[in-house]
Amino acid sequence: MSLVARERVQVLASQVADQIAAGEVVERPASVVKELGENALDAGAQTVRVELEDGGKTLIRVSDDGVGMDREDAALALQRHATSKIRAAADLIGVATFGFRGEALPAIASVSRFEIETSVDDGDATRLRVTGGKIDPPEDIARQRGTTVTVRGLFYNTPARRKFLRATATETRAAIEAVTVLALSRPDVAFSLTNDGRELLDCPPASRLIDRVRALWGAELADTLLAVSHRAGPLEVSGLVQRPAQARPAGRKGYVFVRGRPIRDPFILRAGEAGYRSTIAPGDRPSLLLFLDLPGDAVDVNVHPAKLEARFRDKFFVEKVVEEAVRDALAPLDAAAPLGGAGAWGLGPGATGGGIGVPLELFSARALGPSPQAPAQPLLQVFDTYILFQTDGGVAIVDQHSAHERVLYEDVMRQLSGDGAPAQRLLLPLTLDFGPAELDAIDAHRELLERVGFEIEPFSGRSIVVHTAPNPHPRFEAGRCLQELVADLAGGRFGGWQNRLERFAATYACRAAIKAGQALDAGEMRELVLRLLTATLPAHDVHGRPSLVQLPKEELERRFGRA
Ligand SMILES: Nc1ncnc2c1ncn2[C@@H]1O[C@H](COP(=O)(O)OP(=O)(O)OP(=O)(O)O)[C@@H](O)[C@H]1O
Ligand SMILES: [Mg+2]
Repeated sequence: MSLVARERVQVLASQVADQIAAGEVVERPASVVKELGENALDAGAQTVRVELEDGGKTLIRVSDDGVGMDREDAALALQRHATSKIRAAADLIGVATFGFRGEALPAIASVSRFEIETSVDDGDATRLRVTGGKIDPPEDIARQRGTTVTVRGLFYNTPARRKFLRATATETRAAIEAVTVLALSRPDVAFSLTNDGRELLDCPPASRLIDRVRALWGAELADTLLAVSHRAGPLEVSGLVQRPAQARPAGRKGYVFVRGRPIRDPFILRAGEAGYRSTIAPGDRPSLLLFLDLPGDAVDVNVHPAKLEARFRDKFFVEKVVEEAVRDALAPLDAAAPLGGAGAWGLGPGATGGGIGVPLELFSARALGPSPQAPAQPLLQVFDTYILFQTDGGVAIVDQHSAHERVLYEDVMRQLSGDGAPAQRLLLPLTLDFGPAELDAIDAHRELLERVGFEIEPFSGRSIVVHTAPNPHPRFEAGRCLQELVADLAGGRFGGWQNRLERFAATYACRAAIKAGQALDAGEMRELVLRLLTATLPAHDVHGRPSLVQLPKEELERRFGRA
């Protein structure tokens, strides 16, 4: 049984109808699919079947198993402003159904050969045909509970609009997209789509969004996604976002749903992308599926004729929370990319608080305190570059340069906005030579350089003297770091970074970090891993490369035939 109760269809009073943002409802087959699909969901359907011929140009049929309509309602529903979903203008506030205008069916019927078959219980049913805007006398038929709408010859009577229909492949693609959006909005409902008898989508009912994503786009994409779950005040943000290291410059999926309703909002997507700051290469576009839930009176959905936009009472707040929500999702070590076929690696939240499945005390002699004598976690450095260790879920492999870069970046961001870094006075001040562009860059960044620990004085001509330097690790070469850093700043490296402080911090972190190919002793490795595991965004360096990858235990078991 459906949870949706059948309401009577009524024609809205004209002063209510006048308050509804209405406009061109039907542009192409995909808009018919969207409207009919939304009607099916509003009717409490558990199964929605969409059939097309010729990309919908010849035929569009949407069948559902929802509450259906009796004969009287079905006839009324074909009139403009007839709806069962609202009665008064006040009902528009927080409206929970997709529909509320009473526009879709009459608009579609007026530009097609239209037929609706509907039944409120298994048995007696009504068929209504509309041709040229005229409703034929109703027919008795038999069918199961639910509704089937068939739309033939879209725009047959408006040749000017028919001319604008695109190639079958293009219209089919748009219809696939329309069904995709519906299917994402309701993973619990089964959806299928065929064109000329060929199956294009088949989504069984799913209890989780990730399963719906897998049915729509395959496991390869689904396995790159992390769950979002964040609440701030009245706003709840959930959904799925891509691991930074797996984002690509093209082909991303970006969807926003507000109170279950799909909207196009580039600002919200951008806010989501802002959550990736410092974990992603400029130009990479992560996939984002964001579901925003907030009280009905905090958002107005009645602002766009095709209901594709929403207006928030506090847009700034919404964007801020979306950014936080994404950042939150990227923080656990789960955000690290897995090696091999497996998805998440079982380092889920809760393992040791903070979402890290590695007992931190195993890395830190100091943190142990007097009592527990846990054996230190063995660490192995290979190729003088990678550090391996065991976690609850498998084997972690850390790239020492990327890891240190992440750690330093977070240190420096704190120092730049706080008291600055502890600097070391050099026993022998360094004298370094620079070119004109580089001297300009030093000038422009003098204060930031000082904050990270470089106290610099012009000497003569092209030379400067360095009195103090930071000390990020024992093998730090201050002169070489400063030369590389200044060359980067002068050369506009990290040009994609918007924020000057962040750009400087990323450049510094990259140049000051331990290099690959550097042998480390056990204490240095332990210190580095501990600091990485306690970083805010441990899984990525500032170029969008992973700082840590996981070899899940299941993957090992699979490879060795133990699974
Ligand atoms: N598949 C369906 N199952 C049951 N009732 C339906 C179905 N499709 C439409 N109806 C009924 O017909 C009415 C009119 O549908 P229509 O799509 O024209 O308007 P709406 O959904 O109310 O608003 P909107 O124009 O915003 O979509 C709906 O309010 C609903 O009562
Ligand atoms: Mg509708």
